[in-house]
Amino acid sequence: VNSGSLGLPPRVKLVLLGDSGVGKSCLALRFTRGIFDAGSRATVGAAFSSATVTVPGSTASCKLEIWDTAGQERYQSLAPLYYRGAHAAAIVYDVTERRTFAKAQHWLEELRHYAGLTMVLMLVGNKTDLMPQRQVAEEEGRNLADSIGAMFVETSAATGINVAEVFEGVASRLA
Ligand code: GTP
Ligand code: MG
Repeated sequence: VNSGSLGLPPRVKLVLLGDSGVGKSCLALRFTRGIFDAGSRATVGAAFSSATVTVPGSTASCKLEIWDTAGQERYQSLAPLYYRGAHAAAIVYDVTERRTFAKAQHWLEELRHYAGLTMVLMLVGNKTDLMPQRQVAEEEGRNLADSIGAMFVETSAATGINVAEVFEGVASRLA
């Protein structure tokens, strides 16, 4: 029974962070609406969407409130407005752009400093469909995540592979 008083909260706030262009908005769209937008434009400020998530292998469910932040440098100072009070953060990088992995490391450190052990952190390497252009090995992502106790998954918003695992994984960890 998901009473909301123990374990999984009835409403879970998840913030998406990461460099511009890594695919945060596409991941949110893929998960909430099952579609891919090849012409996705840079987010201005932040975008909000929500979906009901059921924890795999259980009957526990929650309303996931997804705050999709803007990765462009000019919006950087707004990020704390969105991650403050969040139950979880998914930090996204693009496996074909090494500089976005460095940026993800920066976000993980900022959040760990801010949130200590209270926030569920998920590192997400996106765009695995672009295999020939890969610059960051899966093992590098996994090692970074392990080093700070974050969860890890590689995804493609384009094909949809592992996208549900990001959101269900967060809910599982909170349940
Ligand atoms: P900001 O809003 O500026 O922070 O960027 P974002 O992280 O939200 O990126 P967005 O989701 O808008 O995607 C940027 C570009 O990458 C778009 O052209 C998308 O179509 C493309 N894209 C996103 N995810 C994938 C993916 O998994 N594979 C491929 N091939 N392209 C992707
Ligand atoms: Mg966006």
